[in-house]
Amino acid sequence: MFLYFINYRPDETELCNLEMRSLFKINPEKKFFIADIDFNINRSVFIKYKINILTEADDFDTIVENVERLNLHKENYKIKYYDIDDKVKVEFNEKHRLEGIVGEKIEGSVDVYNPSITYAISKIEDKWIFGEYIKNSGEWHKHEHKPVYYCNALPVRIARSMLNIGLEDNVNKKVVDPCCGVGTVLLEAATMGVNIDGYDLNDKVVENALKNIEFFGYNIKVENKDISKINNKYDLAIIDLPYGILSITSHEEIMHILKSATNITKEAVIAAVDDIREDLETVGFTTVDYAIVPKKHFKRYIFKCKLNK
Ligand SMILES: C[S@@+](CC[C@H](N)C(=O)[O-])C[C@H]1O[C@@H](n2cnc3c(N)ncnc32)[C@H](O)[C@@H]1O
Repeated sequence: MFLYFINYRPDETELCNLEMRSLFKINPEKKFFIADIDFNINRSVFIKYKINILTEADDFDTIVENVERLNLHKENYKIKYYDIDDKVKVEFNEKHRLEGIVGEKIEGSVDVYNPSITYAISKIEDKWIFGEYIKNSGEWHKHEHKPVYYCNALPVRIARSMLNIGLEDNVNKKVVDPCCGVGTVLLEAATMGVNIDGYDLNDKVVENALKNIEFFGYNIKVENKDISKINNKYDLAIIDLPYGILSITSHEEIMHILKSATNITKEAVIAAVDDIREDLETVGFTTVDYAIVPKKHFKRYIFKCKLNK
């Protein structure tokens, strides 16, 4: 079993919940949850760490006995009490005392500054848990500073979340971003090892997407094409619909993109600045779930869609 600890900004609450529903089939009610899925947390901007639970018990003495029975032997390990459950308060000195008692049951040497493995203990609700602590590497932060950035580009955090919402547990899906702009989604997909193609109607934008891709050293195909001219078929499309910042976007253009998307993919995660569920239904997509991310001057809707059979 794994404990996942999530954190998000207030405006990202719905997005984070949609991502967790997609990945774990649960709607988190707290900042932590336990699941039996071993998920690569580096895919998510919301999961800060996970604990691979090695043992759990109803009281502290039993967790100490359980740890002893695990016969752990590690060089350069660290043990730390983690505050996970807001409702459980443990004083600073008491945490150290508990760490010391559990640490005595682990053979090997300690290195608190550069550990080869970190063990976590914590009390959540009425249970004590002990396990291996795994921190999110936050590798995606490097993409926050791209050589080319447009004001209509998706925030990295939303791009990554849209991918997780669509991919669920399968990073082998063949993915397309048919309106890829400067390539925000493409870069995030690359860090997840996802096979993705990008297209955009605007040749200058394609040039800039390629500059960003080259800068980070990825190999992603990007073509200058209208979405309706894409001949390949995909499992999933991530679509950030154009909206009126750099130009006015007509309803006809939106319908053209949505209709064309139904010819190239079975599943889609679509970002829009309006509630377009009726339009999605009209072209043949069913909205299976959605989230709203409020911005200062507009709302961003994220729709998770499946093509009607
Ligand atoms: C909101 S922007 C996408 C931004 C992108 N997600 C990013 O982070 O850079 C929408 C993009 O759709 C492209 N676009 C508009 N109509 C299109 C069409 N019919 N086919 C392909 N791309 C289109 C525009 O050129 C624009 O780059």
